[in-house]
Amino acid sequence: KLARANGSIQVVLVQPRGFCAGVVRAISIVERALEKYDAPVFVRHEIVHNKHVVDDLKAKGARFVDEIDEIPEGAVTIFSAHGVAKDVEISAEERGLPVIDATCPLVTKVHLQGKRYLSQGRTLILVGHAGHPEVEGTMGQIPGTVHLVQTEDDVAALPVSRDTPVAYITQTTLSIDDTRGIILAIKDRFKDVIGPGTNDICYATQNRQMAVRELSKIADVILVVGAKNSSNSNRLREIGEEAGVPSYLLADGSELKPDWVRGAQIVGLTAGASAPEGMVQDVIEALRKLGPVDVTNLPGVEENVEFRLPVQLHAL
Ligand code: F3S
Repeated sequence: KLARANGSIQVVLVQPRGFCAGVVRAISIVERALEKYDAPVFVRHEIVHNKHVVDDLKAKGARFVDEIDEIPEGAVTIFSAHGVAKDVEISAEERGLPVIDATCPLVTKVHLQGKRYLSQGRTLILVGHAGHPEVEGTMGQIPGTVHLVQTEDDVAALPVSRDTPVAYITQTTLSIDDTRGIILAIKDRFKDVIGPGTNDICYATQNRQMAVRELSKIADVILVVGAKNSSNSNRLREIGEEAGVPSYLLADGSELKPDWVRGAQIVGLTAGASAPEGMVQDVIEALRKLGPVDVTNLPGVEENVEFRLPVQLHAL
């Protein structure tokens, strides 16, 4: 049995948490496409990084593939929220696939920004994580060399001279603090640097990170609902840890380990931008199996961002 002062586990839910506007849009795109076109509808890559979302859409008739050549000719094809490289677009075109693009508009904005900097004759630096599909997409959208940096050491090691005019762009789901440090290192290392204000980290990532920072002031432990391969969910967990609060990432209630919350008075709960609210409730249910639970809400920023669906899906 868990020891608690008043006998119950205090669960503090943060705002905002869970789905961002880009994820809501990407899921609606698949759902609407399934209504409009005959199943199967093909999706390249997980539409968003969450198994529950993917399984749900699979059950409705969506088929998920890694590569374009797995898609039969002429089949409706959706690109995931993370965006794709130019060569993926070209191979879809070559196969005659009708494409609906679920790339988050904020990711597309970074692509456009990068292209603009490159056309101004600047050497382009991308701050991001190697291997993440957004980074692969962004690098593959920009028709020139992109230097990927993940740390301040990477900035120091760039094979670019100090006088070269450079520009930076960033992945949308990084840690605000880590990115700030890397951008400072870029500004330090090069004489002529331009970039998007502070960074391209999206509103949803920033708001969820700020909320976890607030939560870390009161929570004894932080649970982040999200997938292992979800960049923004991993950053939320790291922010909790950096603030000195033991923090864990879990996909749903089945992954909750009683040890994590043993002895904790206040359990902080949040969710990454691709994690459904149902999974947050599932974690609360799992906590209830360990003892009585009191849920309270920590107020935070109100979000009212909404992205329009692609034109193909407008009139339904
Ligand atoms: Fe877009 Fe940010 Fe969500 S880039 S998909 S709004 S996490």
